[in-house]
Amino acid sequence: SLGLFDHYMQKETFEQPEVVANTLEMVSGAQSISPQLFGASALELFPKITNILILACGTSYHAGMVARYWLEDVAGIPVNVEIASEYRYRKSVAQSNTLIITISQSGETADTIAALQHAKELHNGLSAVTLSICNAPESALTRQSQLKFLTRAGPEIGVASTKAFTTQLSSLFVLTLVLAKVNGHLSVAQEADYLKQLRHLPAAMQQVLLLEDQIKPWAKAFADKDHALFLGRGIHWPVAMEGALKLKEITYIHAESYAAGELKHGPLALVDEKMPVIAIAPNDGLIEKLKSNLQEVRARSGELYIFADRDTQIETGEGVHVINLPDHAGLLSPILHTLPLQLLSYHTALERGTDVDKPRNLAKSVTVE
Ligand code: M6R
Repeated sequence: SLGLFDHYMQKETFEQPEVVANTLEMVSGAQSISPQLFGASALELFPKITNILILACGTSYHAGMVARYWLEDVAGIPVNVEIASEYRYRKSVAQSNTLIITISQSGETADTIAALQHAKELHNGLSAVTLSICNAPESALTRQSQLKFLTRAGPEIGVASTKAFTTQLSSLFVLTLVLAKVNGHLSVAQEADYLKQLRHLPAAMQQVLLLEDQIKPWAKAFADKDHALFLGRGIHWPVAMEGALKLKEITYIHAESYAAGELKHGPLALVDEKMPVIAIAPNDGLIEKLKSNLQEVRARSGELYIFADRDTQIETGEGVHVINLPDHAGLLSPILHTLPLQLLSYHTALERGTDVDKPRNLAKSVTVE
């Protein structure tokens, strides 16, 4: 039931610290992590993996896009991330020793199931391993995969995916640590440090959700917009993609996302005083690059709405609105930066009076092609 909340999306947004803690339960208590979190046979299967293929749709695809940065950076494994509906019809070239990962809230998305079947056929005889990151314990995807990791988000009722996404990301970070360890890319000290960061994550998420009151006036300003542009760089580019998807899905505002370095290759032509530009701008290694991209936007009178963090050092000013997240969370920053984008979409939808939990034309689980 909804309890004190008005909508499922709102309830599910605020449940995130708790369900992320649940998802990480087996990890948080432990001194070290083990492949067996993904199934008994992972101990024997993971050491053979030399490359990764991630297949998913929509929000789950964005989780895969974030995970690519983690897996390549921390575990040193090459990763391809593919939209399931495209992958299933492409005669791609299969490599050997591939870990094929499907990511899905429902475990019943028709395109993702078909993509997994297609991947199995293409990788036949090439020693592939299949893993499903899924929120439904008994689903087509978990049944058809050798290994599984369950996101313990609980039932997600709102069509817009919120807690499924952040629990997927948490799970994928655990996978990254496990594979890094198997590969000898993770020292004992690094493992202990990442585990500490994961243990702190639910509390850090709670802090970010407290920004809701600062976000509400932004939602008021967005309510009569027709378009919005979301920008991010590096690991925060997929977060921008997710922000744009959420906004269009529940408010029907046309939103696009770009890796900010692409601006001057086309989309900058869209920017004028009527175009709000939302930037995901934590203080990571690309912040100076992003800042110069944002100056290009400001020079064309685009109105900037910046989700920064304490260390970013961008000042609020004429046409520049800034909300600072409390801390810079390093590699876990994408999880925290997702939350204000969910809140921005939610409150903009309320302002516009759209059906938050059941947006037009969409179904919760897309079980047909
Ligand atoms: O159940 P799945 O995770 O496989 O669903 C995939 C997409 O249909 C889903 O994430 C969709 O994009 C969400 N409604 C977005 O909020």
